[in-house]
Amino acid sequence: MSAVAFSEKDQRSLRHRSGEAPTAARKEAKIRDAVEADLPAIIGIYNAAVATRISTAQLEPVTVAGRRDWLSEHSPNRHPFWVAEIDGCVRGWLSFKSFLPRCAYRGTIELSVYVDERFRRRGVARHLLEAGIARAPSLGINAMVGLIFADNESSLRLFERLGFERWGLFPRIARLDDVERDLVVMGRHCTTLKGASS
Ligand SMILES: CC(C)(COP(=O)(O)OP(=O)(O)OC[C@H]1O[C@@H](n2cnc3c(N)ncnc32)[C@H](O)[C@@H]1OP(=O)(O)O)[C@@H](O)C(=O)NCCC(=O)NCCS
Repeated sequence: MSAVAFSEKDQRSLRHRSGEAPTAARKEAKIRDAVEADLPAIIGIYNAAVATRISTAQLEPVTVAGRRDWLSEHSPNRHPFWVAEIDGCVRGWLSFKSFLPRCAYRGTIELSVYVDERFRRRGVARHLLEAGIARAPSLGINAMVGLIFADNESSLRLFERLGFERWGLFPRIARLDDVERDLVVMGRHCTTLKGASS
């Protein structure tokens, strides 16, 4: 169970992008690759968010048995699944997954970030996202997106804070408990490729 190792280049990039002194939580939280033993904690954090109807289109709680393959669908060197551990307990997580299956999108990933309700507003999500952005080039990632319901203000602010911009809106694309919801695409580039417009 090893901590996520950052190269010197990743760490310089992280320091450069952050530009701020780390908060207490950022100093205390250890980011590492998730292992199967973390699944109950990961799922506990996720299910608490499912119940709020704010964060995810998942309508029913998930189970450890039903999500056995969740971590094996990820890989540390391509699409990692990281946890943030504080005092030996998982208090947040960040997953990278393929945005769309066609080959031309291989450099684009979708991020999901969830933090234990009791450990919010301490910089845990920010720490995870900053680490993800710093690691992106060595994972072959040149664009990242977050798909966020338009009324999920805290997440929109979080992503904006980390340099993401509103790239799109899908109006009334989801229905949760008979309420139609808009989905915002928050995106940022990690590198600029030849021929790209930004
Ligand atoms: C969104 C979420 C991940 C934020 O986690 P967190 O660890 O509390 O966030 P941080 O403490 O790192 O906050 C970083 C920035 O995000 C913004 N932010 C976070 N929570 C906020 C809130 N409740 N209201 C307004 N802004 C908020 C702020 O800009 C904050 O910076 P600041 O504290 O310097 O003002 C957390 O609320 C959560 O798990 N929500 C449910 C899951 C979800 O919606 N995920 C997004 C979809 S992928």
